[in-house]
Amino acid sequence: MASLLVLYYSVGGSVRRMAELVAEGVERVPGAEAVLRTVPKVSTNIGVLEKAAPDAGSPYAELKDLENCAGLALGSPTRFGNMAAPLKHFLDGTGLLWQRGALAGKPACVFTSTASLHGGQETTLVSMMLPLLHHGMLVMGLPYTQPELNATRFGGTPYGASHFAGMGDDQPISDAERALCVAQGKRLAEIALQLTK
Ligand SMILES: Cc1cc2nc3c(=O)[nH]c(=O)nc-3n(C[C@H](O)[C@H](O)[C@H](O)COP(=O)(O)O)c2cc1C
Repeated sequence: MASLLVLYYSVGGSVRRMAELVAEGVERVPGAEAVLRTVPKVSTNIGVLEKAAPDAGSPYAELKDLENCAGLALGSPTRFGNMAAPLKHFLDGTGLLWQRGALAGKPACVFTSTASLHGGQETTLVSMMLPLLHHGMLVMGLPYTQPELNATRFGGTPYGASHFAGMGDDQPISDAERALCVAQGKRLAEIALQLTK
């Protein structure tokens, strides 16, 4: 089985729901399995420690999850047009993997959620690609052969799946956004399997 890591950070649940859809797409491909992982919050309050494991949902990622995966889908909410600090903090701890080229040649894709429609989906997605490129990962977008990319009235970009969650973070994931999340996971798994042949 090829193991595809779906690594995300989510506070309000939008990116978590997207991650589950990406994982659904991965698992539609025979021979591929999705491994869902999240990362802890970071705090500038000295002495405030995160629990060793989350109360519910996906376990926290460890470096070996990255090392063992055949490909990576990385998901973050937009934070001022950029990826969220907890995810960046986790990636900043991957220097030893980078030194060994442990992720070089593995396919990767990115996804995000924003409160406002033009609140920085593309910039966030590109910000997430940068460390993956430094690792030598093969960063994939979404092709316009995916019909929802032209039809969407909400999220969905050629840089990766996205969701317009609204100011209350309460907009349901639209049909087009959903289809693009699933397509992205499926595509990642298909390419990973081709590369591992
Ligand atoms: C500190 C902070 C910065 C944010 N910056 C943006 C932003 O630049 N653009 C935007 O549209 N939404 C912004 N948001 C909103 C979140 O990106 C949005 O609610 C997202 O859907 C949350 O995902 P989640 O439910 O998985 O946590 C910001 C939220 C916070 C807390």
